[in-house]
Amino acid sequence: MRLLDKTLLITGGTSGIGEALVKQLAPRNAELAILARNPVKLKKLAEQFSNVHPYQCSLASKMDVERTMREITGKHPDISVVINNAGIQITPTFLDDDFDFNHIDDEITINLTAPIWICALMLENMLDLKAPAAFINITSGLALFPKKNSAVYCASKAGLRNFSKSFRYQLENTRISVHEAIMPLVDTPMTEGRGKGKISATAAAKAIIKGIENDRQEIYVGKAGLIPLLARVSPSLLGAIMKTG
Ligand SMILES: NC(=O)c1ccc[n+]([C@@H]2O[C@H](COP(=O)([O-])OP(=O)(O)OC[C@H]3O[C@@H](n4cnc5c(N)ncnc54)[C@H](OP(=O)(O)O)[C@@H]3O)[C@@H](O)[C@H]2O)c1
Repeated sequence: MRLLDKTLLITGGTSGIGEALVKQLAPRNAELAILARNPVKLKKLAEQFSNVHPYQCSLASKMDVERTMREITGKHPDISVVINNAGIQITPTFLDDDFDFNHIDDEITINLTAPIWICALMLENMLDLKAPAAFINITSGLALFPKKNSAVYCASKAGLRNFSKSFRYQLENTRISVHEAIMPLVDTPMTEGRGKGKISATAAAKAIIKGIENDRQEIYVGKAGLIPLLARVSPSLLGAIMKTG
């Protein structure tokens, strides 16, 4: 699907991969609805691009997401591309002193439940469109092979991966495609101060856009592209590499 002159919704468009997607997509598309919490960052992007429309919303709140999706579909009924990009990662293990029981729900809600809410809430509008439409869910290599830290994060991304596959089956007789972008380590605020060999957010966004335009259902970005082969050749070696990821 060509990403030109479309109307898009991008969650988490104010930082990292989402911001890089906005900067690459805004100049060549019609309208972009951007959702995040920080009003200052939202305003800054909207000032930079006249076709970027900011929506302040917390994905941790079902009520907030329902209200915002109603507002967005009311103002932009022609949204044909939804990129579920926003996410958080909480790194302590369950044994660490700074492990916080209360973070479990938030991480699952923001990373897994909210993208599913958004797919459900945007679907009706997208089914009414006469042109091709797409959902893109951003996951991680950790959805396939988890690491030791961030167990809830790994579980949420594995859940989003499976949801994306099943949702794709459900929509196979419609004009809507469902894509999953499987990310490697990317240099963003999420990974600040940790990890080696990261790719830039700009390169990550470019690869996601290319994957959508090439109609790839599963878009393996950067080193994540090695996962399918290594998983066949030596799943135990790959598991050990990813464990310390
Ligand atoms: N960076 C990596 O190495 C990497 C690797 C694999 C997968 N990914 C995935 O790629 C996606 C983007 O990650 P990133 O590294 O670009 O992260 P990032 O720089 O930390 O940006 C996260 C974005 O999500 C928004 N967000 C966070 N919590 C939110 C909430 N409760 N409600 C609404 N918006 C919220 C943030 O805006 P506000 O804070 O203003 O809300 C921000 O715009 C995530 O799904 C992440 O899991 C990243």
